[in-house]
Amino acid sequence: MIVAGSRSQALAARLSRVLDEPLAEVEKTEFPDGERLVRVPDVAGSVTVVASTPTDSSWIELLQILDACRGADTVDVVIPYMGYSRQDQEFEEGEAVSARALSQALPDVDTVTTVNVHEPAVLEWFDSEEARDVDACGALARELRDVDDPLVLAPDESASSYAESFAAAHGDADFDHLVKHRVDGDDVEMETKELAVDGRDVVVVDDMISTGGTVSEAVDILLRQGAEDVYAACIHPVLAGDAVVRLHRAGVERIVATDTLESAVSEVSVAEEIADSLRRSR
Ligand code: R5P
Repeated sequence: MIVAGSRSQALAARLSRVLDEPLAEVEKTEFPDGERLVRVPDVAGSVTVVASTPTDSSWIELLQILDACRGADTVDVVIPYMGYSRQDQEFEEGEAVSARALSQALPDVDTVTTVNVHEPAVLEWFDSEEARDVDACGALARELRDVDDPLVLAPDESASSYAESFAAAHGDADFDHLVKHRVDGDDVEMETKELAVDGRDVVVVDDMISTGGTVSEAVDILLRQGAEDVYAACIHPVLAGDAVVRLHRAGVERIVATDTLESAVSEVSVAEEIADSLRRSR
């Protein structure tokens, strides 16, 4: 039985088809004071909860669903996009490590699966027999297989594993990375770097696009150096505010993303990758 969180309905439905398991009914009630009640009426057997958590309310809903499923024989949790995963350490003294606080708030479950979680070390904080991160860069590469001999570029060194994985799946493409400095929540600065992109298509790959500031800066550098078409590929289309317009104004040819978050550009499903991971644990 697949139980969908509010922010993962399409992916949960795809996973239910791939695994040939029914989609559970989930009842939700909102009270006048804003509190919500969740009920999963027919919990039985093995349950897979699929719930991205981009907001505070989606984190609370996940806790409620898991509590409602406490009578199941086994509980596997899939968090395709884990909100707060970037708060994975105390960057300044006195800061909350939110990724730890939230993962430790979840009950004991059989397995946890994430998709290209920002920092895989967070998996150790879940109370589960097994926690696994799935790589969806190959699925993005397959979607852009018709882009001929691209340079695959990460916007910073910490994203170079995504570029490397994408490049391998695309067919041994060249990959490189830029060097990024964050100015504030909206803006970043990129160090100047000469790249062999004159007349060549480029795919910029990152784990997530939030404001679009990072990828816009990269696109700007690439087009100034003569790149032909620049594609933006990300696992998690957070797309805060005007991110889509910002990217197109910067000159991006196409934005490609997965369905870990539901958006207008979530064209690549990670259902097969998640199903493979779940089958390995069964
Ligand atoms: C940062 O560490 C992430 O990997 C992304 O590069 C970042 O979250 C993108 O944010 P934005 O789109 O706001 O620049």
